[in-house]
Amino acid sequence: MNEMASAAPAEIGESLTKWVFKVATADGETHPTLGNVLQPDTLADFDSEGQVVIANWLEEDGLRQPQYQFTGVRPDKFSARIAPPLIGLGLLEAIGEQAIIALEDVDDKVAPFGISGRAQKVIDPITGDTRLGRFGWKAATSSVKHQVAAALNTDIGVKTTVLPVLDCGSEQNAKHQCDKGSATLDDEHLDNLVKYISLLGVRAQRDIDQTNVINGKALFSQIGCADCHTPTFTTVEYHPLVELAGQTIHPYSDMLLHDMGPGLADNLGEGLASGAEWRTTPLWGIGLSACVTGGVVNLIGGQGNEVCTPVHSYLHDGRARTLEEAILWHGGESEASKEQYEQLSEDEKSAVLAFLKSL
Ligand code: HEC
Repeated sequence: MNEMASAAPAEIGESLTKWVFKVATADGETHPTLGNVLQPDTLADFDSEGQVVIANWLEEDGLRQPQYQFTGVRPDKFSARIAPPLIGLGLLEAIGEQAIIALEDVDDKVAPFGISGRAQKVIDPITGDTRLGRFGWKAATSSVKHQVAAALNTDIGVKTTVLPVLDCGSEQNAKHQCDKGSATLDDEHLDNLVKYISLLGVRAQRDIDQTNVINGKALFSQIGCADCHTPTFTTVEYHPLVELAGQTIHPYSDMLLHDMGPGLADNLGEGLASGAEWRTTPLWGIGLSACVTGGVVNLIGGQGNEVCTPVHSYLHDGRARTLEEAILWHGGESEASKEQYEQLSEDEKSAVLAFLKSL
């Protein structure tokens, strides 16, 4: 697998294997048979908790939304998320907590009005302290290590000293004592994995001298995109990985949660985040993500002859087939910004898109 790979939606009726389905009861509590995360794939002598497929797409005004079908128990509440890109995570972790918290405006007292932004708070499983949440679609994990341990635990059933208890629904528990036999990854391997993921880099911006890109960057700020997609941070001065210390970075995210309106909402909150709240997605690397998701082919062979076969898929569930569709889904706190985008001339719109593609 390409290390940067994010996922795209599967065809209708095919299992969504590159997805995570967080699940809960109607009250938002741990689901009695499924636990907190659906485990569709299991070892041979374990029962699957069922697969999820896209039954169909609901399309309105050219924007499509997935309708899910569960082959097993359908939980009352769930949140469907696609695998995100894994670039620049160490740099995002190296932004000081205060720099992010300073951007919070929970009661919307500070301009720009209409955009609040809330810091996610999570319990760090290693120290037990309450920390800023940073990673995942709703910023529910506090560090790369926490995120990696959570993925090992719920996505592939591997325990770590960070998260030593598996997410076993009662079905799995009763029949197989699901948690008991399962392997634990030792700390040394976990730390190596975390270091590897933390240091996956971000490609430099391209075409920065093109007029379109320059204009698009200015428009991106003018129409309020940069109010959430914060262009620049400086990472902390001291960091165990020196490569990550004291860097000026351009993630295009404030790392805060925003209410994105009913169009993007699901019905399952996570930590402080409601169903409608999502963490601002960092936009760095977004111009390359379609080639990463779709991969490359090499028809004539030899180095440097790879041709990209782009697959465009954006937003937490991959519903957007173009960057423009991703913008047009922006509602809630980002409604005004989206409307300003819609009022741009065709040339201005293509400048904004050219800027995004340069990232
Ligand atoms: C109120 C904050 C806010 C504003 C303003 C905002 N965004 Fe976003 N943006 C988000 C959040 C949150 C997401 C993640 C939504 C999701 O996945 O459901 C997102 C996602 C995106 C994505 C998809 C990224 C991906 O990889 O899936 C693009 C592209 C994007 N925004 C561009 C823009 C542009 C262009 C503007 C200005 C017209 C803008 N945004 C304004 C918060 C904002």
